[in-house]
Amino acid sequence: MKDRIQIRQMTPADAEGVYRTSSEAIPATDEERQQVRNRSAEEVERRKQRYLHLLEHGQRGAWVAADGDRIAGVALALVREGVWILSLFAVDERYRNHGLGRELLDRALLYAEGCRGAMIASSSHPAAMRRYALAGFALQPTLMAGGKVRRDSLPAGLRTREGVEGDLQLVAEVDRLVRGAAHGTDLEFMLRTGLHLLVVDDASGMGYAVVWNGSPALLAATTPETAIDLLWSCLAESSGEPVEVPWITGSQNWAVPVVLSAGLSLSPAGPICVRGELGPLTPYLPSGPFL
Ligand SMILES: CC(C)(COP(=O)(O)OP(=O)(O)OC[C@H]1O[C@@H](n2cnc3c(N)ncnc32)[C@H](O)[C@@H]1OP(=O)(O)O)[C@@H](O)C(=O)NCCC(=O)NCCS
Repeated sequence: MKDRIQIRQMTPADAEGVYRTSSEAIPATDEERQQVRNRSAEEVERRKQRYLHLLEHGQRGAWVAADGDRIAGVALALVREGVWILSLFAVDERYRNHGLGRELLDRALLYAEGCRGAMIASSSHPAAMRRYALAGFALQPTLMAGGKVRRDSLPAGLRTREGVEGDLQLVAEVDRLVRGAAHGTDLEFMLRTGLHLLVVDDASGMGYAVVWNGSPALLAATTPETAIDLLWSCLAESSGEPVEVPWITGSQNWAVPVVLSAGLSLSPAGPICVRGELGPLTPYLPSGPFL
C-alpha cells in the first residue's frame, strides 16, 4: 500500500480532497460526525478557503499523501514571525499506522527550521499526541467548556468595545507579548470570513478577542482582568445556541470562574503542544487552526 503513495506539496486542486479526508478523519464521536454532516455550505467553503489561504501564505508547510486521486493524508503548517503552527493534520482511517502521519509531520516540520518556537492544538487522538510528543513538543493538557450561556449571569460594566481596522496594531502588540508572534494575515483572514473583533485598550490593560457566534475563536490580553472582560463579552453575543470555550490550559485558570458562572460544563480535551521559545501564553485562549 505504502509504495502507491506519493508524499508531495499540496496544490490548490487538492483543497476538495483535503476537506473530504480531514472531515472524515478528525471527528472522534458520533456527535462530532453529525456536526460535520450539519455544516452549512458556507462553513464548508470557509474551511476550503482556509486551506487555500495557508497555501498562499506558506506552500512549504503544506503536504499531502496522495494515493492516485485520493488524498490519504495531509499536514498543513504556517510560519508567522518565527513561530511555526500546525493547522491541520489527518490521515484517512484506511491508511493509518503505516508511518504516513510521521512522514507528513516530518515534512511540515522542515518548515519550522530556523523558527524560535512552535505550537500545535492537538486532538485527544492517542496517535496525534504520540507523534507530537516524539517530535519534541511538551504537552499541556486542556479543558474545554461548552453549553448554553445563562443570560442572567452576564455582568454589567464590561470595558470591551468593537474593534476597528486601526486596532490591528494593538492586536499585533498583544500577540507578540503573549505568544511571541503576531497573527498578521491569519487574523485578517478570520475577520474577512465572518468572525469579528472585540478590543479592550485602557489604563488597566490591553487585549482582544475574535468572536464566532458567542464563542471565543481567539483571545489574548495583557492582564487576567482584561481577558475576563473579553471572555464575558464573547459569551454575551450568544443567542441561545451552545457556545464553546476551548483550549483552557492550566495557565488559564482566570477563565474557569467565568465559564462556570455562565453555566457552561467543563470537559477534558486535547493538549496544547509547545516547543522552543514562545511568550508566557497567558492570558490566552488560542485559535485551533491558527493558535
Ligand atoms: C494522528 C494521525 C494523523 C496519525 O496518522 P498515522 O498515519 O496513523 O501516523 P503514524 O502511523 O505515523 O503514527 C501513529 C503512531 O501512533 C501509534 N498509535 C496508533 N493508535 C494508537 C493508540 N490507540 N494508542 C497509542 N498509540 C497509538 C502507532 O503505533 C504509531 O506509533 P509508532 O509509529 O511510534 O509506533 C491519525 O491517527 C489521524 O488522522 N487521527 C485522527 C485525526 C486527528 O486526531 N488528527 C490530529 C489533529 S491535531
